[in-house]
Amino acid sequence: MKHNILVIGGTGKTGRRVVEGLTQQGHNVRIGSRRNAPAFNWDDPTTYSQALKGMDRAYIVYYPDLAVPGARDAITALTEAALKEGLEKVVLLSGKGEAEAEACEQIVANSGLNYTLVRASWFNQNFSEGAFLDFVLAGQVALPMPDAEIPFVDADDIADVVTKVLVDDNYNGQTITVTGPRKMTFREVVATMAQTIGRDIHYQPITIEEFKKGMEAAGLPESYVWLFGYLFQEVLGNPDNQSVSKDVENVLGRKATDFQEYAEKTMATGVWNQEVTQSI
Ligand SMILES: NC(=O)c1ccc[n+]([C@@H]2O[C@H](COP(=O)([O-])OP(=O)(O)OC[C@H]3O[C@@H](n4cnc5c(N)ncnc54)[C@H](OP(=O)(O)O)[C@@H]3O)[C@@H](O)[C@H]2O)c1
Repeated sequence: MKHNILVIGGTGKTGRRVVEGLTQQGHNVRIGSRRNAPAFNWDDPTTYSQALKGMDRAYIVYYPDLAVPGARDAITALTEAALKEGLEKVVLLSGKGEAEAEACEQIVANSGLNYTLVRASWFNQNFSEGAFLDFVLAGQVALPMPDAEIPFVDADDIADVVTKVLVDDNYNGQTITVTGPRKMTFREVVATMAQTIGRDIHYQPITIEEFKKGMEAAGLPESYVWLFGYLFQEVLGNPDNQSVSKDVENVLGRKATDFQEYAEKTMATGVWNQEVTQSI
């Protein structure tokens, strides 16, 4: 059966890939973006209904993170609008080990809509499409939490899982935890990228305070600086959060992507050969 599906964050790391996957399967996809028509803007709840109109399912990616103040109100307003517009199911992208995100998961679970929750570990693509790309390009990756062992997950795997559970009602009411196949420290992922790229890239351990000061000095907004502090402390600071899940394999019937494989496919795109633009 073909569906009409709104992909919020459809121009971002996971959303872009979900759009591709659903389109390939012949579903009718609308990209939820501030740049689309009708526009979707989390900061303007009056845009929600227009974007949801005519859709029967939606992938919800909140920006910048479900942990920020305002996320609960936005998720409440969105699910209410979705119910009003007659949607039958939503899939929420959530963060593994974030208590604040779990509050938003509960809002979705209690909304009256069918739903699947997809809880993700930190993405590999933070090093190629996100906040840490410029560090890699500069050859110096200065990040806190050197001892944290993180089961980094690939955005391709998240998107494949989301694409499947969006249209498969067997996953209704379930929480799928998506991680990579092994835990790695920042030092290990940096060494893997350096070897694959064939360039000197160093990992420098710093404190969370030093990282936040660097962001402030680069002129990043206070809310963004707070969010990174929270994510480093809350998500990476708790070893209980860093377990490897088998859910990618269980849902997709294939192994989750290893960081080495991510590094190789990313190298082939040329993204790590560009000039540094800015640095946080
Ligand atoms: N990165 C990670 O490691 C990680 C781990 C676990 C969970 N997550 C979750 O993933 C989600 C996205 O994070 P990400 O790092 O992957 O970001 P991303 O996908 O790169 O996010 C960018 C997307 O957000 C959209 N966007 C930005 N501001 C918006 C606004 N005001 N209204 C509507 N859309 C807006 C952008 O669309 P336009 O610019 O086209 O409007 C773009 O599609 C967050 O909820 C986060 O909690 C991330």
